[in-house]
Amino acid sequence: MTTLPKEGVAWPALKAQLQEAGKADVDWRGGRVPMFIHYAGDDVLEVAKQAYLMYFSENGLGLRAFASLERFESEVVAMGLGLLHGGPLARGAMTTGGTESIFLAVKAARDQARRQNPSMGTPQLVMATSAHPAFDKAAHFMGLTPIRTPLRADFTADPEAIGAAITSDTVMVVGSAPAFPHGVVDPIGEIAAAASARDVWMHVDACVGGYFAPFAQKLGVQLPDWDFRVPGVTSISADLHKYGYTAKGASTLFFRDADRFAGMGWYFDQWPRGQYFTNTLVGTRAGGAIAAAWAVMNYLGEAGYCRIAERVLATRRALQEGVAEMGLATFGNPQLSILAYGSPEHDMAAIGSGLARRGWVAGHVTEPPGLHHMLNLTHEPVVGQYLDDLAAAMADAPKEKRGPVVARY
Ligand SMILES: Cc1ncc(COP(=O)(O)O)c(C=O)c1O
Repeated sequence: MTTLPKEGVAWPALKAQLQEAGKADVDWRGGRVPMFIHYAGDDVLEVAKQAYLMYFSENGLGLRAFASLERFESEVVAMGLGLLHGGPLARGAMTTGGTESIFLAVKAARDQARRQNPSMGTPQLVMATSAHPAFDKAAHFMGLTPIRTPLRADFTADPEAIGAAITSDTVMVVGSAPAFPHGVVDPIGEIAAAASARDVWMHVDACVGGYFAPFAQKLGVQLPDWDFRVPGVTSISADLHKYGYTAKGASTLFFRDADRFAGMGWYFDQWPRGQYFTNTLVGTRAGGAIAAAWAVMNYLGEAGYCRIAERVLATRRALQEGVAEMGLATFGNPQLSILAYGSPEHDMAAIGSGLARRGWVAGHVTEPPGLHHMLNLTHEPVVGQYLDDLAAAMADAPKEKRGPVVARY
């Protein structure tokens, strides 16, 4: 059993061990993982790393002490709000990830509803089956009941089903831009209209699309409005550590106005150490993640993000065309950086295993059974190799019996 060494080990020996341990990991640089990584080039990585190291010790809990971090965070938030058409009243803050952004949006919505109706029942969260499990996690931790509604045939959320599921205890309705399983953007305008009609908070989960869709749209991808331009949208989560290409531990959460934003924070003053206030679930926050976000956003600028988005979009199209030639259909109409594909004619679980034997970590979807990719620039050079291996895996897979797909992270 591992115990703390009695005496410390010298750094060179530890460094060698760290390097050795990583050899067993999947070759993410070779595009072998279908998610987890958002790579936009070594130059971007270097900017993120350098900025992170410069503020490695500083703590985002102490913005009074670190005016630098306060400035970086407020500029990151302002840049994000600009992309999402926040308007002059909109506010926001950085969090440590998509899950934290979602937790805090749910908390703000729940607390607002309770303030407005103190005798309300158990608060409910209404969302399509494709919304991220972080909403169920938040509901579980914070005492809400999650209600899931079915998808339409094109895998987008069904605004009518969502509208019909709203009750007097509904505190939040969710739409995704895009949802992770199929990469399709929900009809945010229609969902927001259903929410507004009942005076319910509407959250757009743009953890994936927040820093990708605005650039894809500038490149000509046609999407119905999905951000604060939609009148009923109350809050939006957008992850910097995904398509912002910043260091992990960075997301943003935005609110239409200061009142709603105030619901994100938490204040306590019954403590011998005095007043305690945070906008986040966590207390201590890595200064490095805040500095890296600021640096990467400024390093890339709109032009840089557009250049990368163009390549990611081209990679998705190449993959989509390649799988179509093999008789696999893309599920729905994914217009951004995620796609899922499959066919009831094939054993998708066996094909995934065949890919794994060829050195790929296969990403799966279960409904319908298929394969899944959240793309970045590591995938760009290996599309051909992947398609060759996919064809070989399809040829190996049993033709008759189809096993169930089990999709694990
Ligand atoms: C749509 C969506 N929302 C939320 C999250 C959660 O983000 P995180 O893993 O940063 O907590 C993810 C993660 O992939 C996601 O795809």
